[in-house]
Amino acid sequence: MIAVTPGRLGSRIRAVSKRALAAPPPDCGGNQGCGKPEENGHAHASAGGVPPPVAHPACGVRDHCGVPTQNPPRHPWWQRAVFYEVYVRSFQDSNGDGIGDLAGVIDRLDYLEWLGVTAIWLTPFYPSPMVDGGYDIADYRGVDPRFGTLETFDRLVAEAHRRSLRVIVDLVPNHTSDQHPWFVDARSSRTARHRDWYLWHDPGPEGAPPNNWISEIGGSSWQLDERTGQYYLHSFAVEQPDLNWRNREVREAMYDVMRFWLDRAVDGFRIDVLWYLVKDELWRHNPVNPYYVPGEDPAHAALVDTYGSDQPEVHEVVAEMREVLDEYEDRVMVGEIYLPVTRLIEYYGWGGREGVHLPFNFHLITQPWDARGLAVTIDEYEGGLPANAWPTWVIGNHDKPRVVSRVGTGQARVATLLLCTLRGTPTVYYGDELGMPNGHVPHALVTDPLALNAADGSQEGRDEYRSPMAWTRAPQGGFTSGSPWIPLPEAPLESVEGQRDDPDSFLGLYRKLLELRRAHEALQVGRYLPIPASGDLLAFRRLAGEEEIVVAANLGHEPVELTVPQEPPLRILLQLVEGSVSDLAHGRLRLAGDDAVIALVQPPGT
Ligand code: GLC
Ligand code: CA
Repeated sequence: MIAVTPGRLGSRIRAVSKRALAAPPPDCGGNQGCGKPEENGHAHASAGGVPPPVAHPACGVRDHCGVPTQNPPRHPWWQRAVFYEVYVRSFQDSNGDGIGDLAGVIDRLDYLEWLGVTAIWLTPFYPSPMVDGGYDIADYRGVDPRFGTLETFDRLVAEAHRRSLRVIVDLVPNHTSDQHPWFVDARSSRTARHRDWYLWHDPGPEGAPPNNWISEIGGSSWQLDERTGQYYLHSFAVEQPDLNWRNREVREAMYDVMRFWLDRAVDGFRIDVLWYLVKDELWRHNPVNPYYVPGEDPAHAALVDTYGSDQPEVHEVVAEMREVLDEYEDRVMVGEIYLPVTRLIEYYGWGGREGVHLPFNFHLITQPWDARGLAVTIDEYEGGLPANAWPTWVIGNHDKPRVVSRVGTGQARVATLLLCTLRGTPTVYYGDELGMPNGHVPHALVTDPLALNAADGSQEGRDEYRSPMAWTRAPQGGFTSGSPWIPLPEAPLESVEGQRDDPDSFLGLYRKLLELRRAHEALQVGRYLPIPASGDLLAFRRLAGEEEIVVAANLGHEPVELTVPQEPPLRILLQLVEGSVSDLAHGRLRLAGDDAVIALVQPPGT
């Protein structure tokens, strides 16, 4: 039976009482009451989302936080936040089994605080057969024993909140594991209680799959279930059957899953493959992709996915999810959406209804590392964002080659500077702050279905982007006292221990950039204005109040020059490569190859 959905009021009351226990707020719990201007970087929202009925330490106003705000803060916490993706399996092992776990994450919260990130995204830790690294979930409301217990999870959230770190978790609504009780029941017979919770179709002519769709990991998206004689759809691995989001019971069940975690004081969700949730009702064939290069492009790119994802009806689901989220205060919805800008921005809201706060913008990962092409995309994105929509940037995640391996260490530093200075909320992928390259994973240890499924070995697999974190110079980098599930990156990668006191290290750069973001309103939330440039140069201004900052990045290996329009006097806040002599009094910047600069425009007369 489907779980009974608590009414809106019921779930709020339950949420408030739980959160009051689980999440002592680190900062002001209210939105306006203490009178401190929000623009000054004073955070008004509690990490747990629900304010405590106690005097606020800064303003001393009792209970003000419980009063619904008339004027929400100009910048909610997630716009000022720096997110950090914790790939739990590879972050820190606490019990020597070689697999990262939630207790390990707790042990490293001090580090994250020191680094200067303000919110963490935990990849799936739910009970799972681990066919797809935990993105095949067998129970949405538990913790896999590999990773800990619900009690460890609650402790993690409380410990994070104590340090003013927000916590968001992965929500995987498109598919379950084939071991999930819903699917076990669904495949038991054509009349099973949960049959219609998944996507079944009779075979096509001569028993063929119902249409030509290709799964993201290669091969048909359809799997024949011999016992019941129908195919089920799996947009990813065979062991990940897609849920039927046209079924109201599925929706309500998943919304209750959201409430389950929101009640445990999570600050929001990163929603897995959000654009996949609804499929064409007529199951039409996808058209052939004329640009497909066999052997080079992934198998599913042979077709243009016109009908298997990004259907108009998905926006209704997104809006409903947002309404569930908004039953709680101050939470955030981040969506994994690989789409071009014009389609992506529809996920902010549709038909007058609210959507995702932060639909991931993957263009710094997916586009060629070319200044002119990126400049066009950045401006298309900035120009296309709906009113009040907030941008977001990312240069790495557990599905894509490490930034250092994509563009080289020099350009990875440039990319990092852009990540931290473009307008919008950045997400840092764990290990990228060390300049971690792709790892080497011996064939016998490969777990990624993408690689295992490509019988011809054409896919390297994503394990290589998920190496264990190098914390110390000790054996196994202090990641585990046992044998890691996959090897650590090879030398010469320096560990956290080796980099933390070196301001010129990759880690030193990250810390400095995050410090600058905190110190400069223009970098954190200021407006964005492009500066015309050519060749390998990318340049823009950030503006907030009287503060104006110029950012110039050289995406090439040869020196470049920029004369800032109006030739204002500049003061350099950070430059990646030492030794270039700029004429700062006249707004002229010289950048070496692989160089980038952040400069403060000096007010006249200074
Ligand atoms: C997302 C995840 C990826 C996973 C896929 C299927 O893209 O980031 O790791 O394989 O969804 O759940
Ligand atoms: Ca472990």
